[in-house]
Amino acid sequence: MAKVQAPSGFNVGDAELERRILAGLDSVEAALADAVKSENPLVSEVSHHLLDAGGKRFRPMVVLLSAQYGDPTSPGIVPSAVVVELTHLATLYHDDVMDEAPRRRGTESVNARWGNTIAILAGDFLFARASEILASLGSEAVQLQAQTFERLCVGQIRETQGPLEGEGATDHHLSVLADKTGSLISTAAKFGTSLSGADEATVDALTAFGERIGVAFQLADDLVDITSESSESGKTPGTDLREGVATLPALIVLGGDNPRDERLRELLSRPLTDDDEHAEALKLLRDHEAVDLARAEAHRRADEARECLAGLPDVAATAALRQLCDYAVARTF
Ligand code: IPE
Ligand code: IPE
Ligand code: MG
Ligand code: MG
Repeated sequence: MAKVQAPSGFNVGDAELERRILAGLDSVEAALADAVKSENPLVSEVSHHLLDAGGKRFRPMVVLLSAQYGDPTSPGIVPSAVVVELTHLATLYHDDVMDEAPRRRGTESVNARWGNTIAILAGDFLFARASEILASLGSEAVQLQAQTFERLCVGQIRETQGPLEGEGATDHHLSVLADKTGSLISTAAKFGTSLSGADEATVDALTAFGERIGVAFQLADDLVDITSESSESGKTPGTDLREGVATLPALIVLGGDNPRDERLRELLSRPLTDDDEHAEALKLLRDHEAVDLARAEAHRRADEARECLAGLPDVAATAALRQLCDYAVARTF
């Protein structure tokens, strides 16, 4: 198995902490590989497909860093990191079906390779495996995971549904990001702190931190969809535009009234299945100041996450979590 590295661009900072985190990530990796094995060769192959393709392991990293405020060797830490990554992985299987995404983690998406039915059921299989591991962590962990999963599903549904009557488009969008992405990253931080035995104030601070860094992370991901090439992100650029999913830059343009943007507003108001129209919209949006405004919002959210760390002790893990805030919004993949 390839030796695990922290996501490139993220600097843990302290050599001793980095050694501990990398050792933790290695254990998580071994447990993940074990967790997706099945006696059925097709199930095994499909489940290994994206796990082996890579991924940043951002959520396990959040668990491991959060566990530094208690006993990081507590028995629940690695299993809970495996649970959050398996949950995340399963949602990617399902999300790529919803988004009709052809590529993920630098390879063909599961739906592109095996079709929607296999992708959905393999995602369910991964949830099942996550649940099995979760059971060993006690009923409180099971309850937290169930509540998280509920928010994640409701977030994905609300994204598909759009704002309710009287609900502002941007407020709706930001609350969707909190539900679909902030929820699981927040839970990663809560697992890390609570299962390591950190005190209640630290658990609360890190839980709030996870929610906010999660929103910043997703805002950055939506910018990656617009501004990065496939070689960087491992995904197909402009998937949101193709599907007619308006992320923050698109919402900023749609909410404006500059006559110069009339054509772009028209393109952003519907799914873009025509390749020429899609390329036109992507170019117009890439060159638009809305991208900078959305990036500024991502930075504001990362700052909010950083503020949650204010009361924590001045230890290497706190510096690393601050650095994680920068990483979450500076990343291009
Ligand atoms: C992608 O998550 C989906 C989002 C919630 C933004 P990641 O960017 O963490 O994906 P991997 O795990 O690195 O592939
Ligand atoms: C991420 O949403 C999916 C979940 C959080 C479940 P996106 O659709 O924006 O993520 P990517 O761009 O496909 O990774
Ligand atoms: Mg998607
Ligand atoms: Mg999606």
